[in-house]
Amino acid sequence: MNAITPSRQAVPAPVGLLAELTHRCPLRCPYCSNPLELDRRSRELDTQTWQRVLTEAAALGVLHVHLSGGEPTARNDIVEITETCAKLGLYSNLITSGVGGALDKLQALYDVGLDHVQLSVQGVDAANAEKIGGLKNAQPQKMLFAEKVTSLGLPLTLNSVIHRGNIHEVEGFIDLAVKLGAKRLEVAHTQYYGWAYVNRASLMPNKADVDASIRIVEAARERLKGQLVIDLVVPDYYAKYPKACAGGWGRKLMNVTPQGKVLPCHAAETISHLEFWYVTEHSLGDIWANSPAFTAYRGTDWMQEPCRSCDRREKDWGGCRCQALALAGDAAATDPACSLSPLHAKVRALAAEEAAENPPDYVYRTIGSNVRSPLKEEAKL
Ligand code: SF4
Ligand code: FES
Repeated sequence: MNAITPSRQAVPAPVGLLAELTHRCPLRCPYCSNPLELDRRSRELDTQTWQRVLTEAAALGVLHVHLSGGEPTARNDIVEITETCAKLGLYSNLITSGVGGALDKLQALYDVGLDHVQLSVQGVDAANAEKIGGLKNAQPQKMLFAEKVTSLGLPLTLNSVIHRGNIHEVEGFIDLAVKLGAKRLEVAHTQYYGWAYVNRASLMPNKADVDASIRIVEAARERLKGQLVIDLVVPDYYAKYPKACAGGWGRKLMNVTPQGKVLPCHAAETISHLEFWYVTEHSLGDIWANSPAFTAYRGTDWMQEPCRSCDRREKDWGGCRCQALALAGDAAATDPACSLSPLHAKVRALAAEEAAENPPDYVYRTIGSNVRSPLKEEAKL
């Protein structure tokens, strides 16, 4: 590993580490946040390297580790990795599809100190959910998994990514979260970069449905105060201002890919001119402070107008760099989701146009091939 590069500036410690343990996944969601090119199993970091990365994360000041994928329980060493988090005092959150080997490993994960489970639910109606996730018989497995999580006393968050294929089920997601005893529900409208950008025409809801979904969430928040927390991520294309993506570039999060590349956000590899450093060559602290990818858009010096003189620039940090590249062709541009961007009207019109058309079939993804295909029969990893 290289010697530590002198730090250019004092940077506050990251709060969270997203550990993408593997890209293998039984599901094939059309809005998957993993990069367009998935890492193969043969290139995944080994157990000892992940344990070293977690040790460095704890020393750096990281508090939360999100054990993610793909499907993290596809790794044979998921229990050892979770145990390492517990021993280091890192709060561990398992982000899982609940299918494949997830249920079989849950008790062991609990026994070594797993703190929290975030379960993805693609839909409420089983047939719809399985169409979106691209895997038959997934829904009953997810329900069994959720029941086991709460029976162990582990806090459960349901994550539902919303788009035109399930926006009519928002009320149903809320009822499902209550029924399963979840503490939190994320109603997260799709963010259109990476694979979701490929499927945007299939996923884009219309404005009236988006507004209705927001009203449903607001009413439920009142009704379920003290019982269920509902996080709402509104769709960027219909928003007035963008969100601070990943909490601001290089400010809160580090994302380590299965082969050890460290990214400031999960879609950063779409910005092809960035230079990413690997945990196999640099320490996590060195990467956080000095890697060209992290320093590229940290702070406000890189901003163009209108962000540069905007009084929200330290609230949303100019929105999403990956979306700026995808829509404006320049990662340093103001995120066109912002109403102050000169491109905003065009983006709105495009969303309205796509939402009005008949949706094309989903393009499903698998390692090695991406196809408009029927559902898979079983959870092969
Ligand atoms: Fe945020 Fe830039 Fe829009 Fe201002 S102009 S609200 S800083 S994205
Ligand atoms: Fe990369 Fe928003 S997803 S900055």
